[in-house]
Amino acid sequence: MLKGKCAIVTGATRGIGRAIALKLASLGFNIVINYRSKDSEAETLKAEVEALGVKSLIVKGDISKVVEARELIEKAKEYFGTIDVLVNNAGITRDGLILRMKEEDFDNVIEVNLKGTFNCLKSVSPIMIKQRHGKIVNISSVIGLIGNAGQVNYAASKAGVIGMTKSLAKELGSRGINVNAVAPGFIDTDMTKELSEKAKEVIQTSIPLKRIGTTKDVAEVVGFLVSDASDYITGQVINIDGGMVM
Ligand code: NAI
Repeated sequence: MLKGKCAIVTGATRGIGRAIALKLASLGFNIVINYRSKDSEAETLKAEVEALGVKSLIVKGDISKVVEARELIEKAKEYFGTIDVLVNNAGITRDGLILRMKEEDFDNVIEVNLKGTFNCLKSVSPIMIKQRHGKIVNISSVIGLIGNAGQVNYAASKAGVIGMTKSLAKELGSRGINVNAVAPGFIDTDMTKELSEKAKEVIQTSIPLKRIGTTKDVAEVVGFLVSDASDYITGQVINIDGGMVM
């Protein structure tokens, strides 16, 4: 059903992005692998994606830079002729309580998580409008819904992503384009590995489903949101958090 379609995943070489790239490849999407720094990780992922029987294209680039985000979208369109799915996954944290948070910690997080998402949305929109179809999934966070001490920058960026998702869903709905967000809770990746075992235990106890999430938990929902099964869903934020926020 999905053969020959193209999906772009930003920040695809590890963690949640990597799991999403492999899930979409398993659904038959050709994959555009975007990443910022580690070339070898991108090559490894490309081999794994292609072993699933689809094609892939590596496009290195920092999505917070408007020119590099535009190049990513243009190269994907040039190579595959269509862009059916965009998953805005690339994100960073620079945590700290506000008294200690430097201006650059705030700016960097907003530049990547919010502006970077905007940059990709801006470049992909005219292409999807012309095609009259497309599915966009933005990776937000439950922190954008409930906040977290030490993450004013991250929470602001992820709340911003939710506002952008809803606004764009309203703008593009009449063109056959679905725009949704997912809000993962606590997922086991490099981003969360710095927490102590004790802190992880405390978090786990507070989660109704009593476990920390996996990258697969997130990738499965993204797989649903880019499939035909979700054609009548747009402007939504789906929490993937074991019931942390309800
Ligand atoms: P990660 O740190 O393991 O991976 C992030 C990826 O984004 C990396 O491949 C990194 O190179 C890439 N990246 C960062 N800045 C970039 C830029 N400017 N341009 C291109 N690529 C860039 O993080 P993880 O945990 O896999 O997170 C993925 C997304 O999920 C992020 O948006 C994060 O905020 C979000 N998220 C993660 C949660 C978690 O518990 N791990 C919970 C909720 C949301």
